[in-house]
Amino acid sequence: MSADKRGVHGIWGSRWTFILAATGSAVGLGNIWKFPYITGENGGGAFVLMYLVCILVAGVPVMMAEVLLGRKGRMSPIHTMQAMARENNAPRLFSGIGWMGAVSGFFILSFYSVIAGWTLAYVGKMASGEFAGATGELAQASFGALLGDPWMLLGLHTLFMLMTGFVIARGVKHGLEDSVRLLMPMLFLMLILLLGYSITTPGFVQGWDFLFIFDFSKLTTHSVVVALGHAFFTLSLGMGAIMAYGAYMPSQASLGKTILAVAFLDTLVALVAGLIIFPIVFSHGLEPASGPGLIFQTLPIAFGALPGGTLIGTAFFVLVVIAAWSSAISIAEPAVAWAVENGFSRAKATFGVCFLAWLLGIGSVLSFNDWGDEQFFVTETIATTVTDATTGEETQSSESVFHLYANTTALSEEPLAEGTERSVKGKTFFDLLDFITANVMMPLGGVFIAIFVGWFMSRESVAAEARVKSPLLFNIWRFMVRYVSPAAIFIIFVEGLS
Ligand code: PHE
Ligand code: NA
Repeated sequence: MSADKRGVHGIWGSRWTFILAATGSAVGLGNIWKFPYITGENGGGAFVLMYLVCILVAGVPVMMAEVLLGRKGRMSPIHTMQAMARENNAPRLFSGIGWMGAVSGFFILSFYSVIAGWTLAYVGKMASGEFAGATGELAQASFGALLGDPWMLLGLHTLFMLMTGFVIARGVKHGLEDSVRLLMPMLFLMLILLLGYSITTPGFVQGWDFLFIFDFSKLTTHSVVVALGHAFFTLSLGMGAIMAYGAYMPSQASLGKTILAVAFLDTLVALVAGLIIFPIVFSHGLEPASGPGLIFQTLPIAFGALPGGTLIGTAFFVLVVIAAWSSAISIAEPAVAWAVENGFSRAKATFGVCFLAWLLGIGSVLSFNDWGDEQFFVTETIATTVTDATTGEETQSSESVFHLYANTTALSEEPLAEGTERSVKGKTFFDLLDFITANVMMPLGGVFIAIFVGWFMSRESVAAEARVKSPLLFNIWRFMVRYVSPAAIFIIFVEGLS
């Protein structure tokens, strides 16, 4: 596209609006829903430390690179990357970064809206007083009943997508800016309130230790891949959301402090969310590794036990909805901005993007019920135990078969030879989208962005755009973007996939 598209979407009122909007994009389900449950699944402390390291060595440098590209290009990530690749004589491959990002955006928005739908349901569930005095069984049954009702999930997914579309359609200035100005401060207020409560629970010290005492024996290469993927997911990186927002940032603002502020706030919210959730988990003898249901299966018990719990619980889930809402808006922005640049009205572009993501989201709705057994990347492991007739010694061997796609129940029911046992592990449609976006596409986008800014743009043009005041900080960042971030992402990728 031609350069005359630059700036058609408007510019934020100030640097502060960018900080608010980027924080609104970053802080979301990733912090409140995903961070606690993957931390629980990956054993706590050591995983948290890896996540923090990934934020520092890959997240912050790539975020800076992404905002810089967005502000220099001043268009949707697709057109920005095409223009940047051309202007800097980079291989055509790099102009595809924007496209890959828009595709991941569709994938992410599709399941993000489904999970956000659960949080909408919980606003209603909490407010109804359903959880007053609730036991673990009741909380689990209530969550199970929600997941088992595809029509309900579809309705909630639809409602959330409509809410998202409504704000996006109003445009960058009146939609995004006004909503984040109001929503972000409210969110911080409520988190502080809840943290105050969790400090008073008997499990606070145990929750703290779970998050901050590092036990490296629990860390696997898979955990490290998840930590890296989450660093990208939580900071909205590698898919163009932050690049799109960077395009609306005022030119005179310096990038360094701004980006550090956003990354700091996002990390703070995740850690505070962990400090709210794990003390409650431990105070009630609950299971940290309960998976995507963690906050939904554990928090209601705590809220149910609390005086005023109905109110606090309702407030908490309103908070989560708000956080998810301001993130969802940004997930769609790269594709919407691209469509607007191609002549669609903002309303039509929004409708098209949200409708496609909504349609794809049906696959995630069904992943938790009717399609739960239809899985991808299925590993079937057959373990054989042979008992030596004379010594009585048992020897075990196992063999794995990989299926690109399988019905796991049908697979489990296939007849087995004597003395063998089968275990089947795969990914539902939802798991698959979550995996390929956070753990593959976003880090891949990040590597390309870092290499592009580090190796294909001249030092002078990068310095002029970044306006980082301290030459030392600028040099450190450029070194990170050229060497450290690409190497770190590459090593973790290769380790994790082998
Ligand atoms: N960062 C958001 C969160 O933590 C999710 C997100 C991903 C937003 C990608 C925009 C782009 O919930
Ligand atoms: Na986040």
